[in-house]
Amino acid sequence: MIHPIDRARAIERFEQIPRLSLGHYPTPIEKLPRLRAALGNAPKLCIKRDDCTGPGFGGNKVRKLEYVLAAAQAEGADTVITCGGEKSNHCRVTAMLAARLGLECVLALNRASHEAKPASLAIGQWVGARIVSVERREQRAPAMERMAAELRGQGKRPYIIPLGASTPLGAMGYVAAASVLAAQMEAAGLRFDAIFLSSSSGGTHAGLAAGRELFLRPEVQLYGVSPDDAAACIQAAVSGIVQGIGARLGVTLDAPVTVLDEYIGPRYGVESEAGREAFDLVARTEGIVLDPVYTAKAMAGLIDWIRKGRLAPEMRVLFWHTGGQMALFHV
Ligand SMILES: Cc1ncc(COP(=O)(O)O)c(C=O)c1O
Repeated sequence: MIHPIDRARAIERFEQIPRLSLGHYPTPIEKLPRLRAALGNAPKLCIKRDDCTGPGFGGNKVRKLEYVLAAAQAEGADTVITCGGEKSNHCRVTAMLAARLGLECVLALNRASHEAKPASLAIGQWVGARIVSVERREQRAPAMERMAAELRGQGKRPYIIPLGASTPLGAMGYVAAASVLAAQMEAAGLRFDAIFLSSSSGGTHAGLAAGRELFLRPEVQLYGVSPDDAAACIQAAVSGIVQGIGARLGVTLDAPVTVLDEYIGPRYGVESEAGREAFDLVARTEGIVLDPVYTAKAMAGLIDWIRKGRLAPEMRVLFWHTGGQMALFHV
């Protein structure tokens, strides 16, 4: 529990952090009555439509980049460098926002074997990002450093954005999201006992966890569902970012972090059977499209918990749609 005086001071510091206004907010909270009926004996279900954040075809990256790009501009950067896979939502949104802000953009992307070009890679190229291909994940960070050195040698001012913008600064985007969620809940008379979301590099989860301590009830349970790494690994990443947020806001934040890793399926980026079922069920009952890599697997976790009776019918659960649907498209 944070002392009210410490909380007020932390909120004051949070509100002073420079941020660009780039997204379309507040993203809607919608009820999911037909999904609930199809599941039977389910809690009341709502969805937070962060797939509708706007720029770069939306998703959770917009919120993080509002803080990170503000810092890049404050440092006088003329180029941003970041990394991911060829289908990376983070890289696509970074490239599109960089174009909008008049920044150059370099993306260190893992080459993947596929016949058609992923839409996110094509979009990055259309908006003028320079693509540097690397073979393996471990080569991304050194490639970014090499590019930064090369650009500095040319008199440019590069700014490196780490994977997924999942730094304490980037995660402030989800502290802000928690603050707006609290206002939306108050205005609509809503209450949530649990929030399910996809959690990978940890910034989204960490921002919401920190934001919960500042703006929501601490009893609201947050369940991050992994699309790739073991629970312990993501939990450690999320906790580290939460601590970093606390350090920045001058408050100790040490809430427990829960990550579920039973819904990864074959591996990262490969559809799971449960994810496919969740994708189809949500599409057919609610007309909402998830993405196969992150949100379908997170929804599979929520559905499994409902079927196993872990979420009682009197509970209210929010599913956080973090976007990512561009992964469905190739050009
Ligand atoms: C669509 C989508 N959902 C969820 C996540 C996970 O967010 P985070 O990396 O902040 O844990 C990502 C990250 O790549 C994503 O692209």
